[in-house]
Amino acid sequence: MSQALYRKYRPKKLEDVLGQDTNVEILQNAAKSGHLGQAYIFYGARGTGKTTTARLIAKLLNCEKRRSDPAFASLGEPCNECRECLAVDAQNSLDVVEIDAASNRGIDEIRNLKDSIKTSPASGAYKVYIIDEAHMLTGAAFNALLKTLEEPPKHAVIIMATTEFEKLPPTITSRAQRFVFRKQTKAVIMEKLTTIAKAEKIVIDPAALELIAAAAEGSFRDAEALLEQISSVDTGPKGITLDDAERITGRTGLRKVHALAALMLAKDLKGALANLSELNDEGHNLVQFTKDLIHYLRKTLSLSVNPALEATFEKDLTHDEIAAVKKLASGADTATLVKIIKALIRAYAEMRYSPFAIVPLEVMLVEQLSA
Ligand SMILES: Nc1ncnc2c1ncn2[C@@H]1O[C@H](COP(=O)(O)OP(=O)(O)O)[C@@H](O)[C@H]1O
Ligand SMILES: [Mg+2]
Ligand SMILES: [Zn+2]
Repeated sequence: MSQALYRKYRPKKLEDVLGQDTNVEILQNAAKSGHLGQAYIFYGARGTGKTTTARLIAKLLNCEKRRSDPAFASLGEPCNECRECLAVDAQNSLDVVEIDAASNRGIDEIRNLKDSIKTSPASGAYKVYIIDEAHMLTGAAFNALLKTLEEPPKHAVIIMATTEFEKLPPTITSRAQRFVFRKQTKAVIMEKLTTIAKAEKIVIDPAALELIAAAAEGSFRDAEALLEQISSVDTGPKGITLDDAERITGRTGLRKVHALAALMLAKDLKGALANLSELNDEGHNLVQFTKDLIHYLRKTLSLSVNPALEATFEKDLTHDEIAAVKKLASGADTATLVKIIKALIRAYAEMRYSPFAIVPLEVMLVEQLSA
């Protein structure tokens, strides 16, 4: 694995950009008919495809095969083989400029952009400027950019990417086509991780992949970086187990969270204490575990009050996990759930500053389950 996974598996076509179907459809239609816009804003959570899609647009605009072959152009994808496509991948195209507004807040870069944008493209059909972290630009830089956006040269395309859309001035946002990039569901991230693991011949238990997908909290990049980190550890001939993944990510699988939640709701004090001490012996991070437990019980509470909320949990939970929460919710009484969640939140606050993270949890279990 010589190249970072997240670079190696960066989508090469719009159709490979997962979980952003509306964006993909609109951009593909524009590419098919040769009507891509001159100003775009991509906003949303990290690691969801903003930079990837911006580079795909750069390829679509300059791809030599698209420019010389109308039948191919009507497919709405780059060829990924011509000089222009390869240059975008290698990030050395003279006509595609990536500006990181976070460094030096873009003052010099936007000044350069104002000058260089007027000159014709070197070898492509368009000059494409990708401004990352666009919300970091200074007022002066925004003003300079605004002038350009008001009257961009015909050969110029500006794509801004940001995680903080609200910080962009409305004068800027109103002049661009806006696309939101959503955090991804655990299921979609799992799907991509499974493909990568297969291609890279990484032997890994699906439960471990699931843990990684959950720990990534909606970001493909985080998931791919975690997979890479885990797969670089030698875990022996059995491959990567859930235990390995738990140890390396410092996260505990939901199965264990569920087990303790179920014992608590069944008021099984002995069982709960034994379970907790086992988690402790296995070296789990109990503070993170408690946080996960609180979130889990919160979901249980929501479902016990309103089963229709199920759909909103599909982001973080697999179908099996939702079924488990539902089962827990159907057997639990709301008042008990509320009491336990409150007590857990108190214990969590105490644990974070305690040199014995397990003690506040144990005390809480005894108080809540012995009555
Ligand atoms: N929608 C997506 N579909 C498939 N892979 C993705 C997607 N979004 C991000 N990735 C993966 O994460 C990496 C980083 O994505 P990037 O586009 O740079 O994210 P950002 O939204 O932070 O700009 C990519 O190289 C790719 O491997
Ligand atoms: Mg990015
Ligand atoms: Zn090409």
